[in-house]
Amino acid sequence: MNVSNRFDVNGFGVVVTGGASGLGLAYGEVLAAHGAHVTLIDVDAVALDQHTTRLQDQGLDVRGAVADVTDHPALDRAIDEAAEAYGRLDVAFANAGIDPGVGFFGAWAGDTRPRVEEGALERYTDDRWNHVIDINLNGIFATVRAAVRHMRPRRFGRIIITTSLAATVVEGAIGSSYLAAKAGARHFMHAVALEVAAYGITCNAIAPGFFVTNIGGGHAHNREVQAAIAKDIPMHRVGHPDDIKALALFLASPASEYITGQEIVIDGGWGLGIAD
Ligand SMILES: NC(=O)c1ccc[n+]([C@@H]2O[C@H](COP(=O)([O-])OP(=O)(O)OC[C@H]3O[C@@H](n4cnc5c(N)ncnc54)[C@H](O)[C@@H]3O)[C@@H](O)[C@H]2O)c1
Repeated sequence: MNVSNRFDVNGFGVVVTGGASGLGLAYGEVLAAHGAHVTLIDVDAVALDQHTTRLQDQGLDVRGAVADVTDHPALDRAIDEAAEAYGRLDVAFANAGIDPGVGFFGAWAGDTRPRVEEGALERYTDDRWNHVIDINLNGIFATVRAAVRHMRPRRFGRIIITTSLAATVVEGAIGSSYLAAKAGARHFMHAVALEVAAYGITCNAIAPGFFVTNIGGGHAHNREVQAAIAKDIPMHRVGHPDDIKALALFLASPASEYITGQEIVIDGGWGLGIAD
């Protein structure tokens, strides 16, 4: 058995929500670099244009589609058009997500973690709660639903949901709507995996720890924040989008055929506790 062949995604039709930045862009880049046809779906038309042009200039088969994952008819159209353009939809990354704003702690790491009044539960507004659930949970549901419509008849598919370490570990610096949405997305992944397993479709999740992306206005680019977090991470460094590419390729490829309903944490050991 030639195991390298099992990682072949050449010719696969792929959609990635939140594909114009950070982890979604990394998923799109690695799949396209291995010969897949990739549609990046994002609400940010400017970033989408910039990155699709850059990747097309490298000779990669990448197209962009502007859609908001909270606008389900527009999302359906973007995914239907991608499947039509390629004549197939093999892989869907349900990835678009936002930061929920302040939690009840004001700092991510360090000895002093003062409570922040603004982040207290009593002050959590409906708007703030619903906005996060709408994107980080309902958007995942709508993306997966649209993808399965194309995958089930072909009896093949790879669905990969971006959850978070925060789906299973409570972190007070993160607004609780995010924790609830990610935990919901994680269990939705289990339900989908069970339903579609008999149709050759797998559904798994990638749960990142701390990655340097543009989420939440790009606070992860702050070197002081990175150093403070890296201290607590057993591997003593934060993650970068390149760190996630091999896992994304594995879960998108035939190599992961017999794995479904699993959430794979990629966090440098952060979820295990503090080592030194
Ligand atoms: N960066 C981390 O440390 C980290 C950790 C755990 C989980 N995640 C998850 O990874 C996923 C990707 O986040 P990222 O860190 O790459 O952030 P990012 O901000 O760099 O990228 C997210 C992309 O999603 C797009 N987006 C936001 N709302 C959208 C909407 N309504 N419709 C369509 N597109 C929308 C943004 O325009 C952006 O291009 C998210 O689900 C996030 O919760 C990130």
